[in-house]
Amino acid sequence: DKGNHRHFMAKEIHEQPEVVGRTLAHYVNFTAGRVEIPFDLPFDFKNLKRVSISACGTAYLAGLVSKYWFERLARIPVEIDVASEFRYREAPLEPGSLALFVSQSGETADTLASLRYASAEKQHILSVVNVATSTMARESDVVAATLAGVEIGVASTKAFTCQLTVLLCLAIAAGRARGTLSAADEKELVDALIGVPGLMSEAIKREHQVEMLARELSKAKDVLYLGRGTSYPLALEGALKLKEISYIHAEGYAAGELKHGPIALIDETMPVIVIAPHDALFEKTVSNMQEVAARGGRIILITDEKGALETDLDTMATIVMPSAHPIVAPIVHAVPVQLLAYHTAVFMGKDVDQPRNLAKSVTVE
Ligand code: F6R
Repeated sequence: DKGNHRHFMAKEIHEQPEVVGRTLAHYVNFTAGRVEIPFDLPFDFKNLKRVSISACGTAYLAGLVSKYWFERLARIPVEIDVASEFRYREAPLEPGSLALFVSQSGETADTLASLRYASAEKQHILSVVNVATSTMARESDVVAATLAGVEIGVASTKAFTCQLTVLLCLAIAAGRARGTLSAADEKELVDALIGVPGLMSEAIKREHQVEMLARELSKAKDVLYLGRGTSYPLALEGALKLKEISYIHAEGYAAGELKHGPIALIDETMPVIVIAPHDALFEKTVSNMQEVAARGGRIILITDEKGALETDLDTMATIVMPSAHPIVAPIVHAVPVQLLAYHTAVFMGKDVDQPRNLAKSVTVE
């Protein structure tokens, strides 16, 4: 049932404040201002030397955001691979380390094969999955459920933001266990997390503006997405969403890589979508935007109130998100990125819920 939405994807984008809120309630003690993981961990984060993450597609990108969180908040080294590479590269894994898998369906062939490899290598297996009865859930030592509900649109949206929510809670729990986060730090992060569903609702209110921009975007042959820090995986996610449902060629790049190649592509025909909340890396991203502008590139800037005030660049458009704590900002900024792909594809008359050549669950490699 699509409710009053035209597509499941629209419904699922709009459901995010609710399902992220529900997922949060499962992992956070709101009154105590702390994360409380609702299951026993068969390992202690304090003793871990590293975490290896593998997943595919959008779930991989949620994992990539969490690498920044685990390393920043818990000072634990994280390696991450797409599962189709991890399963065959015979990575040496120290017994007793943590292998983390992220999957909406819990049935993705490559992710499952990676899980079995890690299990044979005596890793603790922790899976962040949305389908509680899935094969991956059954074969894991512990399952961290995302409570996104059934996701029908082939392009993952609400599962992604719920994965981010769970992964951030795990990173906070790891930080506490490892002594890298004080109770006050944790409270600040938990307060920020509690605000996320409301901020996502605010973000959804920019939909009309995004819809107008989608008309422009639909004329493009190629689109470049740029971001730094946790906005870099979001840039990759934006490009993935746009290509899979609108069939416009899109690429995501770390903004700092621009001058190492992709800047050669920039001209007035290529929209450049820059994701840049006002965080510690904002100034760096602004200088990359200047390089784009100087070459006639047309910029769509996704930023927050402070970021919008502090740039006087001539953008094609600026989408202003509500201000969020920099750690939780990627969960909020995912919304306009999803909406932009959705409205572009709808404007082009594409079947957004059933894009060509794609299956919801990829059970063959
Ligand atoms: C993109 C998308 C895919 C999936 C990927 C992994 O919108 O939906 O990239 O994220 O196929 O699927 P799961 O999460 O089921 O393992």
